[in-house]
Amino acid sequence: MMTDPRVTLAPAVMWIALIAMPTCAYAMQSLEVLHWWTSSGEQQSAAVLKERLADRNLLWVDYPVRGGGGDSAMAVLKARVIDRSPPGAAQIIGPDIQHWAQLGFLSPLHHAQLDDTSLFYPVVNELIRVQGQTVAIPLSIHRINWMWLNPSVFERLDIPLPTTWSQLESSAPVLRAAGIIPLAHGNEPWQNATLFEIVLLSQAGASFYRQYFIDRDESALTDPSVVAAFEQLRTLKTLMDPHINQREWQQASRLVADGEAAVQIMGDWVKGEFSAWGLVPGEDYLCLPVPGTNEQHLYSIDTFVMFLDEPNAVPMPTFIDTLLSPDLQRDFSLAKGTIPARKDLPVTAVDDCSRASHHVFGQASQSGMLAPSIAHSMAMSPESEDAVFEIVHRFFNDERMTPELAAIQLAQTLRALK
Ligand code: BGC
Repeated sequence: MMTDPRVTLAPAVMWIALIAMPTCAYAMQSLEVLHWWTSSGEQQSAAVLKERLADRNLLWVDYPVRGGGGDSAMAVLKARVIDRSPPGAAQIIGPDIQHWAQLGFLSPLHHAQLDDTSLFYPVVNELIRVQGQTVAIPLSIHRINWMWLNPSVFERLDIPLPTTWSQLESSAPVLRAAGIIPLAHGNEPWQNATLFEIVLLSQAGASFYRQYFIDRDESALTDPSVVAAFEQLRTLKTLMDPHINQREWQQASRLVADGEAAVQIMGDWVKGEFSAWGLVPGEDYLCLPVPGTNEQHLYSIDTFVMFLDEPNAVPMPTFIDTLLSPDLQRDFSLAKGTIPARKDLPVTAVDDCSRASHHVFGQASQSGMLAPSIAHSMAMSPESEDAVFEIVHRFFNDERMTPELAAIQLAQTLRALK
């Protein structure tokens, strides 16, 4: 039997710890995995993976890089690859997978289930394959166009749950009078970009969203709805508190959980966080689709790749088998707030938020209502993504920059990088 060259023996310290363990543990192999799951919910989700891999004698050696959205993780990964010390596996998502594969860094993953396109949604198949070769393992799918609400705040103040932007805005004075922040947020480039893309989707719909960000049609680039989205972003900023700088997304979630804020607009990794804190969906928190996006699914898909150490490296079947197993996909999704990447799995025993995400994703895949997240690297090169982040972040922080100017600059950039 060939051994996997990327499987390294566990470090000495670990061997000492393993002396007391049953005989089978001596055979444990290890795999270093770089990822950006560092919040409580993300760590609990990663723990599900670690346990299942350990059950199969594979030790996940953690290489977490802090920073929501994964930009810092990608910078660290690049540095490690340049330094010729790539991890065994890494969380790389979106079309970036194709770039890494084309540069020759990724291990082809020969695996019957992974190669079976009927197991996955079309958008998943597109992301994980390069020229017919599978190079990534899909784990789960996030829906990003969510509002997370603290129901007790709305009940106590007798405010209707917002289903439109104007309802959210008009509840602000009552919330503020009660000392509650209407909208919890963190002023980080990726959080601002996430909010902007959600707002654009809400204002203009999924088809326009794709024309604008992906096709970059001239008519879309100059469409007034982009100005309107920047205006709406500025209005949303008025619903936030003065302490948004350097606030991570999970700190914003904490404000909602504690009733210090009413709403957070963010992907359903927030649900994973709430679960890790022991909160119950439907009681301690609610999810509502962002106004105007009931039938739309702004998605990010979490995938792992494996690095090629040498030309004839064989993939590690245990890693792939485990990540694709129905039990793992289900339990991981329960912890992470996602739906499984495998489309053949029933979504039972989950809460309303995941059930809605599953239903909408299935429908939206047929009806053209899917929108790949720009902020979460689903549809653009890293250069274009950085440029979008830069303009949106500058607009968010510089009140002198008009929505019209932001729209012109964004159009220029998207045109130039097409
Ligand atoms: C990833 C999620 C992660 C979130 C916040 C997204 O890009 O898909 O898995 O929880 O970023 O870091």
